[in-house]
Amino acid sequence: MILSITNLKGGCGKTTLATNIAVGLAHAGKTVCLIDTDLGQASSLEWAGIRGEQKPHIQVMGKKLAQITTDANELAKSFDVVLIDGAPQLEELADRTILASDVIIIPTKPSLQDLRSTEEFLKRFRKVKALKQASGMDVTAFVVINEANTNTNIFKDIKETIEQLDEELIHIINDRTAYRDAFAYGLGVVEYDDRKAKKEMQDLTKNILKRIK
Ligand SMILES: Nc1ncnc2c1ncn2[C@@H]1O[C@H](COP(=O)(O)OP(=O)(O)O)[C@@H](O)[C@H]1O
Ligand SMILES: [Mg+2]
Repeated sequence: MILSITNLKGGCGKTTLATNIAVGLAHAGKTVCLIDTDLGQASSLEWAGIRGEQKPHIQVMGKKLAQITTDANELAKSFDVVLIDGAPQLEELADRTILASDVIIIPTKPSLQDLRSTEEFLKRFRKVKALKQASGMDVTAFVVINEANTNTNIFKDIKETIEQLDEELIHIINDRTAYRDAFAYGLGVVEYDDRKAKKEMQDLTKNILKRIK
């Protein structure tokens, strides 16, 4: 099972969600391999370096997008879940991630700029999905609103717009310092002492597990 966390935009929380979902899935008993494709920043690789031998172990490796389909398929033979931490990529490169994946999670911050980039990404996604379906394969996308301040008007407006999309909004992750702190310690928030962050990430993990089987 190959799960990508991606969008065309930088800074929307791809690495934050990828590392936290990796930890969440590992605590749920899945073997997980996390592939960092944003080699300019290599944030997931840095996180893995800080995490060290902390249990459960998460295998993290860097890969170029050119090879991603072959490499991810090969790794999927040895791990329950191969998680791809996406790069803020050119559109043609975004296609490679979509082609390689069974499921895509699209983090979107509640801002107009992020909404536009998600809409652009989804146009791309739907074309590639149609191509995959024509050759007997499939890919499903879910949206997660990330870094939300749920009492603001912009959040409410963006949430309403996202709820109109064909792709399901599966979770809302709030703006919390625990995400920045846990990352700096090489942890996921389920391993950190912020109860609300822990609960919302456990819920996201459950939502994902329900949908990937
Ligand atoms: N839910 C959140 N709450 C607080 N800060 C967050 C949250 N999600 C991401 N961030 C912060 O936003 C910045 C960009 O996140 P990152 O995951 O690196 O994005 P990307 O990988 O898409 O470029 C980081 O400083 C990260 O700590
Ligand atoms: Mg990143």
